[in-house]
Amino acid sequence: MNAFPLTPAQQKQQLEMFEYLEREMAQAGGAVPFQRYMEIALYAPGLGYYVAGASKFGPSGDFVTAPHISPLFSQALANQCAQVLERVAGGSILEFGAGTGIMVADILLRLEQLESLPAQYLILELSPDLRERQARTIENKAPHFLSRVRWLDELPEGFRGVMLANEVLDAMPVHRFRKGADGGVEALWVSLANGRLSEQWRSASAEVAEAVGEIESELGELAEGYVSELNLALRPWLASLAHGLEAGVLLLIDYGHERRTYYHPQRSMGTLRCHFRHQAVGDPLQLPGLQDITAHVDFSAVAQAGRAAGLELLGYDNQANFLLGCGIDRLLAESGPAHYPELAQGIKQLLLPGGMGESFKVMGLGKGFAGDLAGFRGWESGR
Ligand SMILES: C[S@@+](CC[C@H](N)C(=O)[O-])C[C@H]1O[C@@H](n2cnc3c(N)ncnc32)[C@H](O)[C@@H]1O
Repeated sequence: MNAFPLTPAQQKQQLEMFEYLEREMAQAGGAVPFQRYMEIALYAPGLGYYVAGASKFGPSGDFVTAPHISPLFSQALANQCAQVLERVAGGSILEFGAGTGIMVADILLRLEQLESLPAQYLILELSPDLRERQARTIENKAPHFLSRVRWLDELPEGFRGVMLANEVLDAMPVHRFRKGADGGVEALWVSLANGRLSEQWRSASAEVAEAVGEIESELGELAEGYVSELNLALRPWLASLAHGLEAGVLLLIDYGHERRTYYHPQRSMGTLRCHFRHQAVGDPLQLPGLQDITAHVDFSAVAQAGRAAGLELLGYDNQANFLLGCGIDRLLAESGPAHYPELAQGIKQLLLPGGMGESFKVMGLGKGFAGDLAGFRGWESGR
């Protein structure tokens, strides 16, 4: 029995999603790795969570992201973009997975104030539904910028400027692994029988076993039964970004940790989380395509993959320090009395120690770019 009452449209989506999964699994010999299941649940054409018309963001959706908590988040990020754009002549902004488009509008409005507008604001968005939503948001909030915004189907060549990805890495499909009784590595697979999805642990592929081996060679052996996640798409993704980037900075913002904390012995059940209507759902096999599935980011893996792709690590800090470095407190002070209480409340949520201020991190990677970044002013000492 489903614990959540579904609308007729959601029931139809579930039927079609199960048919899709059945076809995929039959073609794959009866089961797929968890990573492929997560990819289908989030991105299957017309059916996946991010590509079908679910509301997702904001109070009526399943979760809230920083650009929706306060416009000061995007304005502070715009301050950082302005500093990069000053040094990369004729530079543009490229945002990955732009959500509702609210960050696009708020960044451009702030850059207009700073007289530091990018040549173009490019968006690489996997979801046709979200592309439309982004265009509507920009049309409502900042219509004079619509002609400056362009949606891409693939990465551009020779890009100069700032690349932004807020909560994109956590939406990438991950492999789930477990340390087996014999010290070997197992990987989770998903199958479908009699209309029910189920999980099985199998011996891991060489790629997954090798990646777990790398973690263990750094941190020591993981305990028997230890379960966690791996994002093997990071390396090819960052390699393609590095290839497309001629000069500039990539800013990645997400909840995550350095490797030592990510694979801490106490985090023995991993970081995978699901959200449906603002409730945490324990089971990723429930409501495929209707609930969000997400995993924390191993920022050590991001830095390593970036270096391997020829990108330089320009900074890493928690969100609170990064936003303060970008002047979020000055933005609040300048906001005027009318909006002050509301903005102060939002800023508190973004900077809260023990909350978003610490659980979210920002990493800057760059190529052909010299100079410090305001958001990472405290980073040098903590390196
Ligand atoms: C949690 S949402 C965040 C949306 C928005 N950035 C925000 O902060 O509100 C994750 C977004 O990442 C996008 N995404 C995931 N993988 C991507 C990729 N490889 N390239 C571009 N976008 C991607 C998803 O389509 C989705 O729009």
